[in-house]
Amino acid sequence: MESVEQKLLPNAKEILEKNWRDTHTVPSPKLYPHQWSWDSAFISIGYSRYNQEHAQKELLSMFEGQWKNGMLPHIVFRSKDDYFPGPKYWETELAEAAPKIETSGITQPPVHAIAALQIYKNANDKNMAINFLTEIFPKILSFHRYLFTKRDPEKTGLITIFHPWESGLDNSIRWDEALARIKVKNLPRYERVDIHKVNSGQRPSNNSYDRYIFLVNLMKNYNYDDDSIYKHIPFKIKDIVFSSIAYVANQAMIEIADLIGEHKREVEDWLNQTKQNYIDFFCSKDDEQKLVYDYDLITKKRIKKRTVASLVSLYTGLLKEDQSKIIVDWMRHSHFCTQNCVHKHPVASSIPFQEKEFNPLNYWRGPIWININWMLYYGLLRYQLNNEANNLYNAIIDLITEHGFYEYYNPLTSEGLGTDNFSWTAALLIDLIFDMENRRRSV
Ligand code: SER
Repeated sequence: MESVEQKLLPNAKEILEKNWRDTHTVPSPKLYPHQWSWDSAFISIGYSRYNQEHAQKELLSMFEGQWKNGMLPHIVFRSKDDYFPGPKYWETELAEAAPKIETSGITQPPVHAIAALQIYKNANDKNMAINFLTEIFPKILSFHRYLFTKRDPEKTGLITIFHPWESGLDNSIRWDEALARIKVKNLPRYERVDIHKVNSGQRPSNNSYDRYIFLVNLMKNYNYDDDSIYKHIPFKIKDIVFSSIAYVANQAMIEIADLIGEHKREVEDWLNQTKQNYIDFFCSKDDEQKLVYDYDLITKKRIKKRTVASLVSLYTGLLKEDQSKIIVDWMRHSHFCTQNCVHKHPVASSIPFQEKEFNPLNYWRGPIWININWMLYYGLLRYQLNNEANNLYNAIIDLITEHGFYEYYNPLTSEGLGTDNFSWTAALLIDLIFDMENRRRSV
């Protein structure tokens, strides 16, 4: 009899094939018709399981957008398709470091080294994979160097974001207070495109968008100069998800450096900095919940909002056993769907149901996202919590089998939300299916 996985795999691959555009993959043709940075890395992890060539091309093409200062922008504009803010709005030609190719002017979490290592590990043709690693290593290194200098002048090993879009969790409640403090002045009129493509109730509010666009305009005023932005921008946060991913990515860089015989001293320094500061910076000892939180550099306070971002800390393996137990306990209870909802197995919503801001339909303010649950799956495995990881795997399989390949899902009903045929949902499902098959085989 055909297993659920055997039924799902061809559908997942078909989505990636439809969204493939010669050198890269669009996250979804309707809403996101260009190349996005962390999407591209997640997508290449999916390809690495069955199509080494596409996996390598995907990641290399993303780095065509790399700036001369190492910054990897969050979007490389690849077509004339409508998207706001498009290249004309970003005006990256104001920046000395911008490349010729059209890009946005901000960055996104550095999943790329993690993807590059997966490409090698899953490769059929190891020689081709080593050549690929040799080509991509200096590009990723220069991106990380940008992050650990320009976005961490304090040398904490924790990365500062200047814009909610940089977090990838755009309208997370974690950013509400920082955004509310921003006084929007003289904002030129602009027209959103997203709300004509997807139900506006599932997208960030106009109020948030005003602030997103205002911040873009501020960066343009500083010609995208990081030092000036660092001094003056009113949104400046050490982001826990971004920093967690950067730490795991640096661990991958060490493995890659060993494979290709490259120096790793600089990467080891970054890893040590993160190790030294992660808990002290993100975790307050007087907090009853004992969760880890982002740190706002402007108010000099932790942002004590209970969200799935705190759980992502598991992915680093940096938590001590007692702290990882607290996080796992959170997963078993309020953060995850339990008695109130339709899932047979728990799966993390972006914020707990009990929070006053919880909205089951709206983007990062309630819905379930597959990329975050994918990180939690690997986080659980890091702590040898195999049963919990298996349950999460089953929940993801159920969700996609019953509701399709959506961008995000309603945590109360499992209904698919946002755009459909979403590439990273397909790609990360492929990765999970292969990983589970390997784990089952090795028992
Ligand atoms: N995720 C953002 C969007 O909705 C920006 O990258 O378009």
